Amino acid sequence: MAPFSVPEATQLAFTITKAAFTATALLWAVHFARRQSKTRPPGPVGLPLVGNVFDLPGSREAENIAALGDKYGDIVFLEVFGQPIVMLNSQAALDLLDKRGSLYSDRPHMAMAADFSGMADLTPIMHYGEKFQFGRRLMNQALSARAVSKWEGGIEQESHGMLRDIFRAPKDFVAHLNRMAGSIVMMSMYGHRVVEEDDPYVELAIEFMEASTTAITGRWVVDFFPFIKYIPGLAFKKQAEAWKARVPEWVDRAFDGFKANMATSNDAKNSLCGSLLIREDGSSVDPETENRVKWIATSGFGAGLDTMVACLSQFIMAMALHPEIQVNVQKELDSVIGRGRLPTFADRESLPYMECVFKECMRWGTPAPLSVPHRLIKTDVYGDYVLTEGTICIGNIWGILHDERLYKDAHLFLPSRFENLSKEDAKRLDPTNYVYGFGRRRCPGNHFAHFAVWFSMVGLLSAFNIAHEVDENGKKIEIKAEFEPGAIRHTKPFQCKFIPRHDRVPDLLGLN
Ligand code: HEM
Repeated sequence: MAPFSVPEATQLAFTITKAAFTATALLWAVHFARRQSKTRPPGPVGLPLVGNVFDLPGSREAENIAALGDKYGDIVFLEVFGQPIVMLNSQAALDLLDKRGSLYSDRPHMAMAADFSGMADLTPIMHYGEKFQFGRRLMNQALSARAVSKWEGGIEQESHGMLRDIFRAPKDFVAHLNRMAGSIVMMSMYGHRVVEEDDPYVELAIEFMEASTTAITGRWVVDFFPFIKYIPGLAFKKQAEAWKARVPEWVDRAFDGFKANMATSNDAKNSLCGSLLIREDGSSVDPETENRVKWIATSGFGAGLDTMVACLSQFIMAMALHPEIQVNVQKELDSVIGRGRLPTFADRESLPYMECVFKECMRWGTPAPLSVPHRLIKTDVYGDYVLTEGTICIGNIWGILHDERLYKDAHLFLPSRFENLSKEDAKRLDPTNYVYGFGRRRCPGNHFAHFAVWFSMVGLLSAFNIAHEVDENGKKIEIKAEFEPGAIRHTKPFQCKFIPRHDRVPDLLGLN
């Protein structure tokens, strides 16, 4: 016998459908009411429960977020699975992330990296608090403008090595940039000089950089729904355990190498680890400080290598696209330095046009377009808006540096925009105000990067003309200014030629 008669079954189906409609309507009503709230910044409405999952920008993230800014204003509100997010496309980024740094300097919790993969001590994902502040003081001390000047000699050697590599094998220029940046960071963090192609410390550091980047940016479900950690046998746990098992080797090997050399090697004494750990009276520091320094050095490698390589490949692309700008820099170089030597750090102030090219490259290329997300520690009011505790705040560096209100014809590469500015405008428009991020999380390696990247750029232009490659028929191979998606704006592969600028270049590079 059937459990229901036909009229009863129809009645039941009707009731279920009605309940489903009512629940959906209620969800939409609540969703709309929340999104219409005047205290929330504007943004796309999204869907109930999942929120703005489908509005999250795809591969051209920063550009798409800036486009949301054109539609909704300088602050755009999104919500993903209940997590509030604000995109800050303008001055608002400075007002909140810089000026209210004590509230806006936490990081979103990265469960996959921090809880499961043993990477919680990595500086860029560390929560704001005493431990972070202690580490920050150490970094500020070891990476101040004055402190980094002691690495001039090492940067000069490595950068000239890169010029020699390009002279010999120009097609592999990206590999040479990577080798140079890896060596510079190893030298400055641990005092370790890289001589072999397959240096074991560099290989481990790159392995760790790749694993930690995947753990942090991999969109792991456990980062959105922490409760799934209780479900046994999920694949993410296996991956995390494999990484966790490798962490001691990744973090300790180069550091142990430093410790073995610190009593005898001047490079080790001058390194970041040396400056923070070696005491004049010979006493040793406490284990907690030692552990912090070890993680700072590891963090410096990952954060410094990719960003510097991205800057330099963007520069090479911009120069190949703009021969007229190279000519102007080279005229300046010839008149200030001549052709009898390569530039030094002491020349920087005498090369104002080169400085404009450096700034324009940072602006146009924007190596870290969306910075690293900050997290609001306590509910805050900004104008008419209430931003709730835990909101993720993204400073859209790319959006700011391509804002037509600040930089006319922002999509063009125009170093002259930085010439003849009033003192006030020069300060206001300096891209380095933004390119290194914001407030108390602003890149601690900024002086170092500023130094090393400028030096490599000026060296490249004093040794080479960078030009379009030609095909077998002598036809110019076009370069498209295209960039890889992701946290760092690497150029997509492109071809170009490096033509030694004059006969003396091999001598200057020590090749004869
Ligand atoms: C041109 C090169 C570089 C660029 C464009 C760059 C940019 C950035 C940006 C945008 C951030 C995030 C700031 C924020 O959260 O608001 C950051 C963080 C960081 N950078 Fe750099 N960086 C560069 C080079 C370096 C170098 C050479 C080092 C190390 C020597 C370094 C170490 C770090 C560290 C440790 C953090 C994390 C800071 C924290 O979370 O508190 N960076 N960088």
